[in-house]
Amino acid sequence: MRRKVTVVGGGFVGSTTAQRIHDSGLADVVLTDILDGVPAGKALDMAESAPILGTDAHAAGVSTAGGDYNETANSDVIVITAGFPRKPGMSRDDLLKANYDVIKAVVEAVVKLSPNAILIVVTNPLDAMAQAAFKISGFPKNRVLGMAGVLDSARMSAFVAAELNVSVENVHSFVLGGHGDDMVPLARYSTVAGIPLPELMSKEKLETIIARTRKGGAEIVNLLKTGSAYYAPSAAAVQMVEAILKDKKKILPCAVYLEGEYGIKGLFVGVPVKLGANGVEQIIEVKLSPEDKAALDKSAASVRELVNVLGV
Ligand code: LAC
Repeated sequence: MRRKVTVVGGGFVGSTTAQRIHDSGLADVVLTDILDGVPAGKALDMAESAPILGTDAHAAGVSTAGGDYNETANSDVIVITAGFPRKPGMSRDDLLKANYDVIKAVVEAVVKLSPNAILIVVTNPLDAMAQAAFKISGFPKNRVLGMAGVLDSARMSAFVAAELNVSVENVHSFVLGGHGDDMVPLARYSTVAGIPLPELMSKEKLETIIARTRKGGAEIVNLLKTGSAYYAPSAAAVQMVEAILKDKKKILPCAVYLEGEYGIKGLFVGVPVKLGANGVEQIIEVKLSPEDKAALDKSAASVRELVNVLGV
């Protein structure tokens, strides 16, 4: 049976996500945007690349300016990237209210047509937007998650691989918490070929990598000047989509609704989860040092502030 993924938002993150899914043949893709013509044009362009790439996945693009999401009906997974991006000097949290309105409109529209879909939220501020999507959708908590930990961990892994001059395939990084400047990269659980990072580099080097990981998004925003990262964010979203569609039972850090795990209740925060056909199939709890627990609590408190502003 053909699988169907809708990507809401035809900006760089959305269109790159759709392209990766289409090009790999993972699923048929519907790309939506409120702009007229742009999603259809991008989808047609993708479809015309299919004979070269040898993919039989279909690509369709629709404008939802008039509120018509019919083309997205019966999607297996819906990736929501719609929203305003960060500008230089702007924090993820500045985006809060503007993007809440976007999420509300999108979620209300798509869940009616795809009542069994799994929602992956990419819009910032990530954890708060995922929580908003969860509340607005009325979906069970296993079917709403946010993409951030995979991205943040990938950034950390890229920095570690470059520093130690080893294959990225050997590096596993472990980042918990909200997708903000107080995210919690855990050095002890981050490894190269199974060897914990603190055994492989000086404390100073490690601190530098952790600081750079925390500001990974801003580093790209400052370079691009008119937009934020999209290659790594789209790759991260697609890894989550693939784990779900292929029922991989893959353990990935994702923003999920916690109900007491890690001592956090009623809040979306990034933790390791098992992703499979049912979405979030398990939340993996690891032992944290008192310091790491305090850092996670601080990160969760930042998310809580945003969620409280939104009242979700
Ligand atoms: C980043 C933005 C998208 O981390 O949050 O690149």
